Parts: sequence; structure tokens; C-alpha cells
Amino acid sequence: MPMRDGSPSLTAQRVAAHRLSFERLEAPFGDPDADRRLAADVAAGVSEAARRTSGEPNERMVRYLRGRTAFFDRVVINALGRGVTQMLSIGAGYDGRALRYAKDPVSWFEVDHPDTQRDKRERLERLGIEAPQITFVATDLREPGLATALIECGYEADTPALISCEGLIVYLDRPALETMLDELRAVVTTGTRLAFSASTDRSPARERFRESAALAGEPARNSLHGDQLAELLASARWRTVDISERSRRAGFWVAAPDWAATRRPAAPATMSRIGQFMERLHHRDSLDELPGHLERTYGIEVESMSQLDSGVLKIARRDGVDWVARVFTASRGEAAAHGDAEILAWLAGAGFPAERLAHPQPLSTLASQTVLVTEHLPGRQPARNADTLEQLGRLLARLHALTADDAAAPPALVRPGGAWHHIALQGGPRDELDGAAVLVRAAEHRVGADERSLHRELLEGVETADDCRELPHALIHPDFVPVNAIAGPDGELSLVDWAGSGRGPRLWSLAFLLWAAGPGGAAAVASGYGSLLDLEPSELERLDTAIAARPLVFNAWGFATGERTVSEAVESAAGVRSRAGKIATRTRAALHRRAAER
Ligand SMILES: C[S@@+](CC[C@H](N)C(=O)[O-])C[C@H]1O[C@@H](n2cnc3c(N)ncnc32)[C@H](O)[C@@H]1O
Repeated sequence: MPMRDGSPSLTAQRVAAHRLSFERLEAPFGDPDADRRLAADVAAGVSEAARRTSGEPNERMVRYLRGRTAFFDRVVINALGRGVTQMLSIGAGYDGRALRYAKDPVSWFEVDHPDTQRDKRERLERLGIEAPQITFVATDLREPGLATALIECGYEADTPALISCEGLIVYLDRPALETMLDELRAVVTTGTRLAFSASTDRSPARERFRESAALAGEPARNSLHGDQLAELLASARWRTVDISERSRRAGFWVAAPDWAATRRPAAPATMSRIGQFMERLHHRDSLDELPGHLERTYGIEVESMSQLDSGVLKIARRDGVDWVARVFTASRGEAAAHGDAEILAWLAGAGFPAERLAHPQPLSTLASQTVLVTEHLPGRQPARNADTLEQLGRLLARLHALTADDAAAPPALVRPGGAWHHIALQGGPRDELDGAAVLVRAAEHRVGADERSLHRELLEGVETADDCRELPHALIHPDFVPVNAIAGPDGELSLVDWAGSGRGPRLWSLAFLLWAAGPGGAAAVASGYGSLLDLEPSELERLDTAIAARPLVFNAWGFATGERTVSEAVESAAGVRSRAGKIATRTRAALHRRAAER
């Protein structure tokens, strides 16, 4: 950023000049020549100034810039390959990737200080390089207002994006960096990634670089090291994403929005619709206070706490068996957690192998969120083999047989259940399907005019998916699959994670276990289930559509969260239906064999 007011960034010009000599990642689209022409124009003017301010060319610096260029080229090409259609470059300088990798219908947003941006635009105009795909957002990052500026310029908070900050971080002081990370976090949806470079070592080369930047009138404004940067990211609710060890060592980072982060979100007006949905479902408050809260509430001694899943914490105790604490989002409400506790108590009474309540008063409140404590089940994840699948099939049939008639059941056993918790906080299959349809609709603006009919097809697919509504009901668990089973020392399985369970169509629950088992494991599940229960003819008839329902929801979720395009989602839905058909055929055959044996 120009210290010398009114002049464009010299460091940005130097980087552009260096890039001219680097080999670049090729793509089958875009206009690399336009990028080269811009960089050459910049380089022609920079050599004189560079000689004056940067001393001898520094080999290490050139090597670093070559690696950095390759890293950002790859990140950009990968994002375009994933179908990302919104690219945002902060501190873009004279970077010409928006030209080099231009691709229909991708929009590029470039943020930079007005002085640098003005110069870049003048050059583009003089060189006759048209770039309607680029929206320029002139902003001084020392001032707040980035999120609003982006939205005003047409940046779509609901569209997954690649945000890159190449060679920028060092020029912002800590408060400006915090504000920028917060503001960027306020305009993202799932599937968005933030890539940035920030060399955090203490080498002499870094010091030389700082000196030369200072000479160019752009002094380094922070000297954060890796841990401090990671902390800054976490406090703005970004989580780092694994990249290669080599890239990490070189100071290249990739981060994604952390929806379950404990800091209270600012709920800015710019927040995307899907982002808001994710916050509502995943946000937890004050998790670091949980150990103290449990010690005070139950008089136990907590040794350590570790996260098992979003809002699910293992509590290692000094004075007894370990616990699991589930902290439910404030929006799930206390009644739902009461229901979970009642169901667990009932399962214990019925001798069904499941997680057990850790205390006669298993519910408490932490920062307006209900906390449920259960005992941590010792054991391991079962092997994924036919034995496990058959055992799970039998256990599921046992649960359904026990709860087919709910006349004497506690109220929680008759609450609607079975919905996937990523979509519905509590409810049955219809709530899950409706939730998926809401998300598909919320992402409609990402679909081009020529893909409207595909979007309609995808939406109809979830709207008309089989909710198994009028088929026989029982107590169902939303996710009765191997990942939620623990094998005890004797090899017997117990089921965990009963949030979201309740009364629902038993076929819904069996269907998802069958899907998880796949065509190769379906016979084992059916053999276990069929050893105790027969499906009714109406259920046998609906096996195909019931098995396809949950994967169709996953598929819709993939589209809504930007993991796949609408055409990929429609294609994948066709694959789901065909695979579900195969699983159903094998299931029917195995059930038939089982019935003949009995
Ligand atoms: C070293 S250059 C990197 C440019 C580009 N990303 C690249 O790698 O070619 C740093 C860029 O950050 C921009 N920048 C620094 N401080 C800024 C601020 N406070 N507001 C806006 N832009 C700033 C500069 O104008 C410059 O374009």
C-alpha cells in the first residue's frame, strides 16, 4: 500500500515484473497473452525505480516468488476445476490471473488501494485489454467497510468463492488484519476457501525483504508468527485446511469458514443465506467454559476435553469413567434435548445397547445451550465387514420390534424423528426433504439461464423423494450406520448419537443403513434384519425410492453448498437412483432367502 500517497504500489509492480520470467501453469482457457502484456508494461516502468530501491536482485526472493506464483496458480486452477464461479483477490496489485485464467461464466473481483487500482485500470485501457469479467473494488484496507463494498459491487455472498490474498498480509497491521478477516468471513458461504501467503519465519532473507519493502515506501506492518496467525484466523472463525507440508513451510495457507466456531458471530447483514443456515445449525458458544461448567454442575474433576464432532466433546475425567457432552445449538431448544435424554433412559430400561446417560440429571444449560451428558463408550469402530453389517441389521430390527407399538411409550418415543441433523434440528423425513428443498431454492441464483430446467429437475427430485410417510412406524435413529456403532471388548455393537431420533417410518432407517452398506453389503444387512422382522409388501415395493431418498438429500446439499454444479448434481442423482435400484434388488433377494429359512 502506498505510503507515498497518490502513487501506485511499487512492491506490486516488482512482483508483476518478476512473474514475467516464471513458467506458469497452463489452462485450456483464458488469455495468458493479455496477462503478459500487462506485466511487461508494468515491468518497463519498474526497472528504474526498482534499481534505486531494492539493491541487488535477491536470488532467494526470486525463488520464493516463483514458488508463490506456482502455489496461487494451482489454487486458482483447482478452484475453477471444482466449478467455483467467483474469484476474489484482495490486494490484487498487477496480478493478471483474471485475464490469464478468464473462463465463462466466472466473475473476478479485485480489491486494492485506489492509487494502485487506478494505475492498473489506466494501463489496461491504454493496452486495449478489455476485461468485463473483472469488477474493481477500490478500498483502503486500513478502513472498515470491505464486506459492504463487496456486496455493493455485486459480490454474491451465497456463491462459493476463492478468496486470495497474495503478498498482502505483511502490509496490514494487526487491527486491519483482524477487521479484514472478520469482514471476509461475513460474506462467505460453504465451499468458499481463503488462500493467502504469509511468511512467518525469522530468517535473514525475510529481514532483507522487509528492508527492501520499506525502501519502496511500503513497510511491513506486522511480524506475526505461525501460531499467532492461526489464532487470528480462529478468532475470525476461519479454520485452516490441510495443504502439503512443503507449502505450509513456505508460508502458504488455505482456510475455510468454521461454522462450529465458538465465538459469537456478528450476524452481519451481508451474511449469505446458506451461511446463516450453517451458523444456526452449527454455532456453539463458550465451549471453553464447558469443563468448568461440568465440574461445578456435577462435582466431577475434568482432566481434558477433546472434540469428537461439531458440538460433541469427550470429557476425560480424573475421578471416574469418561463422559461425552453434547452441547446443542441454542436454536435446537431445550425440549429436544429432554426428548433425547428420555429416549436414552428408555433404551437403557429396555436393555438396548446404546450410549447411557452419565447422570440422573443429564441436562444442564451453558450460555443458553442445553448440554446432555452420557458415558463415553469404551471400544473401537467396528470393522466394515459383513459381520458388522449383519449385526447392525439385526439390532435395527430389534429396535423396530421393541417399539412397533408405542401405546405405552414415553412422549419422546412418539416425537417425529429420523431427519438428518445437518438439515433439520429435529423432525422426520419430510422435514429433512423440505430442508433440502429450501437449500436448493436458496442457491437458485447460482444457476445460469440455460440450466434452469436442470435446477427444476434437482428441486423436484428432493420435493418428490419418498418420505415413506404411511409405511409402518417405529422408533428410528437418523443415522443407524457403522460410523455410529462402537464395538465393545466382546465385539458386541452399541449405537451412539441418538439426537434426532424419534418415531418415523422404519423403512427410512433401514434404507439408509442399506445405502451405507452398498450393493456389496446389502445382503448382510437384510439377512440380519430379516432374522427378526419381515418387511410388509408395501415396504418391499418402496425399497428403491426409500434407499435413494437420503443420498438425494446429500446430493442437493452438495449443490447448495457449492461442492457441485447443478448439472453434476442432476447427473449424480441419476447415479443414486440406479445404485439404489441395485441395492434394493439384492435386499429383496436376501430377505426372501431369510424368510424361507425361518
Ligand atoms: C506485494 S503487493 C502484491 C500484489 C499482488 N497480490 C501480487 O501478488 O502480484 C501488495 C498489494 O497489496 C495492496 N495493499 C497493501 N496495503 C493495502 C491497503 N491498506 N489497502 C488496499 N490495498 C493494499 C498494495 O496496493 C499491493 O497491490
